[in-house]
Amino acid sequence: MSTDPSTDPSTGPSAAPGADPRAAVPGRAGALLAELGDRAELHDLYDEAGAPVYHAIAGSSPLEVRELVAALRSTSGAVLELAAGSGRLTMPLLTLGRELTALELAPGMIRILEERLRAVPAARRDRCTVVPGDMSSFELGREFGAIVLGATSVSLLDATGRAGLYRCVRRHLAPGGKFLLTAVDVTDFGSATTEQVMDVDCADGTRFRMYEHWTEGADARTVTVFPHPLDMAELPITVCTTRIGVFPVAQLEAELALAGLVLTQRRSLPATGSHHHDVLLVAEVAA
Ligand SMILES: C[S@@+](CC[C@H](N)C(=O)[O-])C[C@H]1O[C@@H](n2cnc3c(N)ncnc32)[C@H](O)[C@@H]1O
Repeated sequence: MSTDPSTDPSTGPSAAPGADPRAAVPGRAGALLAELGDRAELHDLYDEAGAPVYHAIAGSSPLEVRELVAALRSTSGAVLELAAGSGRLTMPLLTLGRELTALELAPGMIRILEERLRAVPAARRDRCTVVPGDMSSFELGREFGAIVLGATSVSLLDATGRAGLYRCVRRHLAPGGKFLLTAVDVTDFGSATTEQVMDVDCADGTRFRMYEHWTEGADARTVTVFPHPLDMAELPITVCTTRIGVFPVAQLEAELALAGLVLTQRRSLPATGSHHHDVLLVAEVAA
């Protein structure tokens, strides 16, 4: 596991050891957090309090799910999904009729995933094994026809974590197996310091305001989520934050090559309307 706290959902929001995690929240989100003071409680987006918030916000994002499911159809054998979260991708992957292992680090996310699995027919549920684990350091003692890492989650790992990820992926790919991952194409991210503010209406009726902050040249952006509108009668207010690495896809491709994973496909995903532009990468173990 990477020792960078920004990559570890169990250690709370990213901040230097001993530092106030609130100080790591930049921009307008940081100012609002300071204004709320003790009335707000800060969490990592994937911890026990953050997991239901992520789950509500993540929704189904049908575009990426559709692309990944379609790309997986050209693979065969058992599938390993990394950083499965609360199952946004896991559930559609199960419709492929393949055996699926879903690996996830955060207990709060695993709890939601298992709850969702309990609600599906046994024939489908029984094809899915949920494994608590770290995508940068895992040993499952078997191989898979495909390994998938969606939601651009590779950017949650630092360079050491990514090197560990590639090593583990190589070890777990069956001959001819494919590694499919999505990543943010950072060349389209914009310039100068930006703070995007987005209101999110979730399918379950909850509403959130999401602040995404990035300073030009910084190696990470910060996403911070507040309930919206703020209800001062419901204290403390749960505020969730996460740090996401920012690096060019070309760097990712170079890292994959260095790790002995040859890129066989690179495809831009259709724009979703946000300022992000994602790409789907498919790699195989070099001959
Ligand atoms: C952006 S969410 C994606 C979740 C899910 N795949 C989806 O599409 O909604 C990132 C997930 O990665 C998990 N995660 C973060 N670091 C991890 C690690 N080192 N190993 C495994 N999971 C990790 C988080 O707990 C979270 O569930």
